Amino acid sequence: MARIIRDPTLEDNIVEAALNEPDAESRVRALYEDGCLVLLRDFRFDLDYAFLNELDFDVDGPPDIMRKLKKYSVDHILNLSARSNGPVEQYAFKHVFRGDAGRLKHFQDQVRSGDNQVYALYKRIFPNYRDTKQIYTWRFTETLFENLHWDNFGTTEDFHQVRIFCNVDGRPRLWRTSERSETFARRVYAEKSLQRFADETPDRFAFALNNKVLGGMAGACLDGMRVNHLAFEQGDVWLCETRLVSHQIYSGYRAIASMFFIDPESMDNPELRYDARVKRIHADFARVGASVN
Ligand SMILES: [Fe+2]
Repeated sequence: MARIIRDPTLEDNIVEAALNEPDAESRVRALYEDGCLVLLRDFRFDLDYAFLNELDFDVDGPPDIMRKLKKYSVDHILNLSARSNGPVEQYAFKHVFRGDAGRLKHFQDQVRSGDNQVYALYKRIFPNYRDTKQIYTWRFTETLFENLHWDNFGTTEDFHQVRIFCNVDGRPRLWRTSERSETFARRVYAEKSLQRFADETPDRFAFALNNKVLGGMAGACLDGMRVNHLAFEQGDVWLCETRLVSHQIYSGYRAIASMFFIDPESMDNPELRYDARVKRIHADFARVGASVN
């Protein structure tokens, strides 16, 4: 089970929940919409973790092939076979799957089964949500020293997001979290002149917080933020809206990180979606500014 060290001076939005308790799903859903990171205490995906941990996507190879292999998605791998042509396909088959069609097939079966289990968990906790897009991601390469951030997706779409994570690797996946975007923005709004971003889309607002206020990747680990430390063990499953919950992968290897884009009107409380929160922040501070002047 994950080990967590909380900074006691931060608002506590890390919650451990068990799904086998009465009304657990609606409680988890309410916490999720509120902007909590919810760690499921009694839930595991049924996967062949030992096998998955033997697969190495960080193999050495010619730089032009490795560049493409790093971006090689699970969708590509689901279409891969021993007969696939193309230099990247052949390299992946030979070096990631050791030229073994049985290993490749077992991985493909694991991915299909894992994605189905992620979907079933999403539907169990959020049965009334209407999803407009599903993205299943298996991240099997090393991530080290990300900057603390809130996700932005380069979109103007006003949607709610369900994100489900699972650490597949035998080594702990190390995260740091800090304030929610709304808490942070309200705390520093005047000091950092956040009204200069009031005409940006909510998506661009997250980009501005990450890069213009916290210093982006160039300032990774040097942002001076108070942080909680989380070490997710193999098999741990957790959920959070990554535009509400600040997060930083400090170290991680193999993980599932799936996303569901949700019609906000199907939320228990649509006013808790990310875009509505950002608009309220700007409106509230515009009112305060107007009453001061
Ligand atoms: Fe992120």
